Amino acid sequence: MSAVFFKKSETKIDRSQRILPRHVGIIMDGNGRWAKKRGMPRQAGHQVGAANFKKITRYCNSIGIKHLTVYAFSTENWKRPKEEINALMDLFYDYLIEALRDFSEENIRTVFIGDVTAFSPKLQELIRETEAISADKTGMRLNIAMNYGGRDEIVKAVREISADVAEGKLRPEEIDGALISRHLYTFDQPDPDLIIRPSGEYRTSNFLLWQSAYAEYVFMDDILWPDFSTENLEEALDEYAKRNRRFGGV
Ligand code: FPP
Repeated sequence: MSAVFFKKSETKIDRSQRILPRHVGIIMDGNGRWAKKRGMPRQAGHQVGAANFKKITRYCNSIGIKHLTVYAFSTENWKRPKEEINALMDLFYDYLIEALRDFSEENIRTVFIGDVTAFSPKLQELIRETEAISADKTGMRLNIAMNYGGRDEIVKAVREISADVAEGKLRPEEIDGALISRHLYTFDQPDPDLIIRPSGEYRTSNFLLWQSAYAEYVFMDDILWPDFSTENLEEALDEYAKRNRRFGGV
């Protein structure tokens, strides 16, 4: 029997009094299975997943979440069939165009985390435009992780820090956790408090590896990302509010 990490609890939480996480991470998993269950190509699942990404993003902003990081494409996702990758790239392009239009009314600042230089020049331009156009928004900060991998991010940080040591700008004994955090894509943000993964997979899949040291995980079994609703998000937030965070203390 597989472990069940999240069960809808009978204990009611007063949502108006509930402590919200400052930073929420979401692994948007299950698009392929959602499509397969309906006899559709995997790409169709990504399409519905992308529409849901917009809905959940807006909702997070509306309820006062300050930082949201969504996992859209990992450094490992390049292993997928070419057809699926091409469809995902087209989807990213179309949705960013739409997001540029739709999010202009929303007070959301969008930032891309990951090595975006691997994408087509056209997509990179759109990524830069999306970031620039929302740079002065003061509401929620949305990180879209694309060609992102937690290990890659740590390697990047180690390289930058080693270069500073080699140039004599930094002594090895000055390297500490805070310095490493400052070399990550999320250097100016709090670590994620809550990471949600729907679809019944109980893995972190290289998502925010360093930053998630003390994150609370909510793995949701019976929901795939395209069906993940605002109520599912609320349930995860209720669960988070019940957790006793000790950060290694007592
Ligand atoms: C994981 O499901 C999902 C992805 C690899 C893609 C996620 C991308 C989106 C939801 C589009 C977001 C769009 C923007 C603009 C950010 P899976 O394919 O691994 O599903 P499976 O495990 O059921 O096969």
